[in-house]
Amino acid sequence: MRLLVTGGCGFIGSNFVRYALREHDDWEVINLDKLTYAGNPANLRDIEGDKRYRFVRGDIADRELVNDLFRDGLDAVVNFAAETHVDRSILDPSPFIETNVKGTQVLLEAARNHDVKRFVHISTDEVYGSVMDGRFTEESPLRPNSPYAASKAAADLLCRAYHISYGLPVVVTRSSNNYGPYQFPEKLIPLMVRNALSGLELPVYGEGLQVRDWLYVEDNCRAIGMVLMKGRPGEIYNIGGGSERKNIEVVKSICRMVAERLNRSPEDFTRLIKHIRDPRGAAHDFRYALDCSKVRELGWSPQVTFEEGLARTVEWYLSNRSWVESVITGEYLEYCRRVYAA
Ligand code: NAD
Ligand code: DAU
Repeated sequence: MRLLVTGGCGFIGSNFVRYALREHDDWEVINLDKLTYAGNPANLRDIEGDKRYRFVRGDIADRELVNDLFRDGLDAVVNFAAETHVDRSILDPSPFIETNVKGTQVLLEAARNHDVKRFVHISTDEVYGSVMDGRFTEESPLRPNSPYAASKAAADLLCRAYHISYGLPVVVTRSSNNYGPYQFPEKLIPLMVRNALSGLELPVYGEGLQVRDWLYVEDNCRAIGMVLMKGRPGEIYNIGGGSERKNIEVVKSICRMVAERLNRSPEDFTRLIKHIRDPRGAAHDFRYALDCSKVRELGWSPQVTFEEGLARTVEWYLSNRSWVESVITGEYLEYCRRVYAA
């Protein structure tokens, strides 16, 4: 299979490219990535020499480039490319509309014109908004609250429209919060691990009582692979880790694990916790929770417990401190000043 993966230099995309080439000897992967602050070719250094892999630097919203890639012949697309950070979307929504909405439409249109056999679009549980009790099914209404979530909901609905209007074989995944190796340290888990290792403050938004359902990235890659092979065109699949935790519990677990690993006392790290004014305000969703019966029917279930996945993640960040420091650019420090200034 000749597969176009977009955003393959980001967190989930790079884990997926590595997973796909490891699991399928006869797959070829073309990785189209713009290399924004979140994209790093070093995330795939270990497979650069693999003849089945090709990297193309470019924008999914660049119609000409995208059409050229499709003209070379593609069997399937997995669209990870996106602006992904909620806080950044509140500071400036524009790039989110450009990439997440317009970029997705450019890809859908090219796929329609070139008879692609399968288009997997990576959406998110954030399109549903927040839920206090119970779980979202794939039929739940979309109530996005941040510009990021709204841009993802728009792309998700364009996928539906391309399936219904043109019969494009689109499948959508909506997953919960991923964590694991190569996640950019602006997101909760890698940020807390990095700051703990550097003796920096651990900025918890408000009381830290919000709940996320954590999914180890390798489990998500397996689910996406399964949806790519066995998912029904026009269907949506929720993918959740089944590991709901309050943010403050996650931060304290990280403190405990880092302390254990460095042979220090947990208090050396918990005293770095600082509750700050919530920069998301009303757009801060309290809880996400997914009903994953549909993807489980395909034969998938998460294999990595939160404790195991978090231990692996802490270990990876400890062993890859040069990777972490290499992605901390001036742009990132400026962004931190804006978000954490309050
Ligand atoms: P990420 O921010 O780590 O990586 C995004 C990648 O997309 C980067 O490599 C970036 O360079 C690339 N990119 C951005 N704009 C582009 C453009 N215009 N053209 C080409 N490439 C572009 O993201 P991630 O966390 O790996 O998320 C991947 C996908 O999964 C996104 O669609 C996101 O909405 C979705 N998702 C993420 C999570 C999560 O917890 N991380 C959960 C659910 C869904
Ligand atoms: O649910 C899926 C979504 O998960 C994806 O669609 C997004 O792309 C991804 O970024 C993630 O969004 P969240 O906003 O849930 O993840 P984040 O890691 O940014 O924040 C998790 C929680 O931690 C959230 O309640 C805000 C809080 N938080 C976050 C940061 C960065 C803090 O308390 N302090 C922080 O410094």
